[in-house]
Amino acid sequence: MAVLLLLFLSAVSLVSAAEDAFVGVNLGTDLSDMPSPTEVVALLKAQNIRHIRLYDADRAMLLALADTGIQVTVSVPNDQLLGIGQSNATAANWITRNVIAHVPATNITAIAVGSEVLTALPNAAPVLVSALKFIHSALVASNLDRQIKVSTPHSSSIILDSFPPSQAFFNRSWDKVMVPVLKFLQSTDSYLMLNVYPYYDYMQSNGVIPLDYALFRPLPPNKEAVDANTLLHYTNVFDAIVDAAYFAMSYLNITNIPIVVTESGWPSKGDSAEPDATLDNANTYNSNLIRHVLNNTGTPKHPGIAVSTYIYELYNEDLRPGSVSEKNWGLFDANGLPIYILHLTGAGTVLANDTTNQTFCVAKEGSDRKMLQAALDWACGPGKVDCSPMLQGQPCYEPDNVVTHATYAFNAYFQKMAKSPGTCDFKGVATITTTDPSHGPCIFPGSAGRNGTFDNSTSLAPSSNSTATSGCLSLFFHSGGSFTSSVIVGFLLLSAVLFL
Ligand SMILES: *[C@@H]1O[C@H](CO)[C@@H](O)[C@H](O)[C@H]1NC(C)=O
Ligand SMILES: *[C@@H]1O[C@H](CO)[C@@H](O)[C@H](O)[C@H]1NC(C)=O
Ligand SMILES: *[C@@H]1O[C@H](CO)[C@@H](O)[C@H](O)[C@H]1NC(C)=O
Ligand SMILES: *[C@@H]1O[C@H](CO)[C@@H](O)[C@H](O)[C@H]1NC(C)=O
Ligand SMILES: *[C@@H]1O[C@H](CO)[C@@H](O)[C@H](O)[C@H]1NC(C)=O
Ligand SMILES: *[C@@H]1O[C@H](CO)[C@@H](O)[C@H](O)[C@H]1NC(C)=O
Ligand SMILES: *[C@@H]1O[C@H](CO)[C@@H](O)[C@H](O)[C@H]1NC(C)=O
Ligand SMILES: *[C@@H]1O[C@H](CO)[C@@H](O)[C@H](O)[C@H]1NC(C)=O
Ligand SMILES: *[C@@H]1O[C@H](CO)[C@@H](O)[C@H](O)[C@H]1NC(C)=O
Ligand SMILES: *[C@@H]1O[C@H](CO)[C@@H](O)[C@H](O)[C@H]1NC(C)=O
Repeated sequence: MAVLLLLFLSAVSLVSAAEDAFVGVNLGTDLSDMPSPTEVVALLKAQNIRHIRLYDADRAMLLALADTGIQVTVSVPNDQLLGIGQSNATAANWITRNVIAHVPATNITAIAVGSEVLTALPNAAPVLVSALKFIHSALVASNLDRQIKVSTPHSSSIILDSFPPSQAFFNRSWDKVMVPVLKFLQSTDSYLMLNVYPYYDYMQSNGVIPLDYALFRPLPPNKEAVDANTLLHYTNVFDAIVDAAYFAMSYLNITNIPIVVTESGWPSKGDSAEPDATLDNANTYNSNLIRHVLNNTGTPKHPGIAVSTYIYELYNEDLRPGSVSEKNWGLFDANGLPIYILHLTGAGTVLANDTTNQTFCVAKEGSDRKMLQAALDWACGPGKVDCSPMLQGQPCYEPDNVVTHATYAFNAYFQKMAKSPGTCDFKGVATITTTDPSHGPCIFPGSAGRNGTFDNSTSLAPSSNSTATSGCLSLFFHSGGSFTSSVIVGFLLLSAVLFL
């Protein structure tokens, strides 16, 4: 116990808050009508997504990302890992073709070497460390090693005994790989890449993990999970897994490696065996995850330390094999339309117009000015719209013309009427648009992301339907899993005995 506490205390001081956390997205490409690289980039820009992870280093995609300022993590696919891990020259060629050819126009900031190699491709594990080193030395040779980090994403299933997080450790079968991997990350100032899937932990727990705990919804205090060794309170599965990774590293006496979550998400649709893969749950999980990450909340072990996270994933991938849920992790369909509208008001501008499915009512181009004036007068009169922002000296006075004033009034009426059908017509001089007509200091009603009127984030409210199990000591284990993660998580409820 004393040793654990000592490790814990020393760890706190060593991981430092370098910068703000970001939210990025993963780009899977198993779609029958995969959008073109230009379309992908247009969606990223429209949604203000500034960080993307590719599962390869696709040339057309990297060219499309040039001069966008979007930060890109490229990947060495697992099927190229053996070659790279066995040959310094192959690694150098890979860097020349896939990195040097694109920087600085394309802002490549990290290279993910393989994907969940220990669990997905254990045969390649013996060359993982040399692959990391060869890739890194090729970057050093080009003087790119400071701006481009090298790491390798792990499944969180390599962490055993994750609850209480303070007792977690990496599966010792992999010590021969994990220890040098961590030493590499430490000596190159890189970070641990971890895939975190509370969905699978929840699914595999057979009801022991409350759904609310997986979805970041508040739990009643007596249902919160508490780590008996550290007395830290865990309010969500995501934090517990990330802290388990910190503790597993400190168990190996490595305490200064930050964590970036390379994948996390929740499926919006599933088959009959996946009843919790729903639009509502996916929306709640991803909305709460984004808020949690962007708030720089950190974890109980390292409060305020950024845990930047890439959401899995940008598009639904209809061609992915497996259960229905496998095809439904995306935020958007192939047309770039949102699968669901995230509850993000106040979370910043990332995924900005995904947050609202914003529609506005505006004056139709080329409308008769007299009809516009009449409609404006009606809206500000019998229509009971608050037209005071358009008075001289107020934010929506400029530009002072009937088209922009009518637009303000039409939209205010439309929003006031909860956008119900027929409330954006005004005898044919009004029309609905998705483009926010706010300008300068004039923020239109219904415009979210700036001064959200859409703060209907019920997702953070306590659920009236907690699936929590009884409040007695409940320590559990589970494993296995069809996708990427088969985490072993146990958790301990507060009403349990505090010291084991
Ligand atoms: C998001 O907003 C931008 C600018 O307001 C717009 O061009 C784009 O079409 C919108 N995207 C979606 C998916 O609505
Ligand atoms: C690339 O991203 C880094 C942040 O990691 C930033 O400091 C740098 O200015 C960006 N470079 C370009 C060319 O946008
Ligand atoms: C690998 O290549 C780099 C140059 O790309 C070189 O600096 C380094 O010494 C080489 N390492 C080995 C083990 O050959
Ligand atoms: C640890 O890893 C080994 C090698 O992959 C695996 O056979 C074993 O099942 C893992 N242990 C647990 C408890 O998952
Ligand atoms: C960690 O450090 C402690 C104390 O210095 C030592 O006893 C222990 O063997 C070390 N563990 C590892 C895995 O290096
Ligand atoms: C944001 O962080 C503050 C402390 O930094 C915390 O009190 C608050 O609960 C956090 N909000 C969310 C939504 O995580
Ligand atoms: C977005 O809004 C339009 C019209 O307001 C509606 O038809 C559509 O279903 C909405 N999309 C989502 C994903 O809610
Ligand atoms: C948001 O609205 C409040 C009051 O409605 C106002 O005081 C504030 O200035 C607005 N903020 C922005 C960024 O427009
Ligand atoms: C927010 O939710 C409440 C209750 O569900 C509803 O009455 C209200 O109209 C919603 N507001 C908006 C802006 O959607
Ligand atoms: C609680 O969940 C059950 C089963 O999922 C459902 O039938 C019931 O309507 C839910 N109640 C509330 C208040 O959501």
